[in-house]
Amino acid sequence: MIEKKITLNYTIFQDSSELSTSDHKLLSKAIEARKKANAPYSKFSVGASLLLENGKVILGNNQENAAYPSGMCAERVAIWNAASHYPNIKIEKIFISASSGLKKVEKPVSPCGACRQTMVEYEINQSKNIEIYFTGETGIIIKCNSITDLLPLAFERSLL
Ligand code: THU
Repeated sequence: MIEKKITLNYTIFQDSSELSTSDHKLLSKAIEARKKANAPYSKFSVGASLLLENGKVILGNNQENAAYPSGMCAERVAIWNAASHYPNIKIEKIFISASSGLKKVEKPVSPCGACRQTMVEYEINQSKNIEIYFTGETGIIIKCNSITDLLPLAFERSLL
């Protein structure tokens, strides 16, 4: 028997003033997207911005539906928005911002499992890591260097 250990290195920014100017702009875009989220049921709004290798910034936000499971998370709306417009362009970074109409979201909101699974596949396909930054409405911003950091031992196409 061999016991293995997986370690996760991540970065904490105390607030957006610690980000570079370009990353600060990307976070602002995620906030802009979040403010346009369609979240009448959960009141939980999420926005995502993606920086592509060609310099384009692609946005997405959560879209809810009265038939609850028919809704979709911001991250997948954003990543599929990017994939539908620029199918062969690599994604460099993803920024996520979340807020709630019910309480102040002061902790970083990390992506759900289904979004991690979706994003990891794009990362593997493009053979280049995607940096991911996530935050709440206020508070710290967490940066991971790769989606695989959030989904170690992922199920992926090579297993099929
Ligand atoms: N949501 C996201 O947009 N991204 C996540 O990673 C987690 C959850 C949305 C889905 C739903 O509209 C609301 O947040 C509450 O779960």
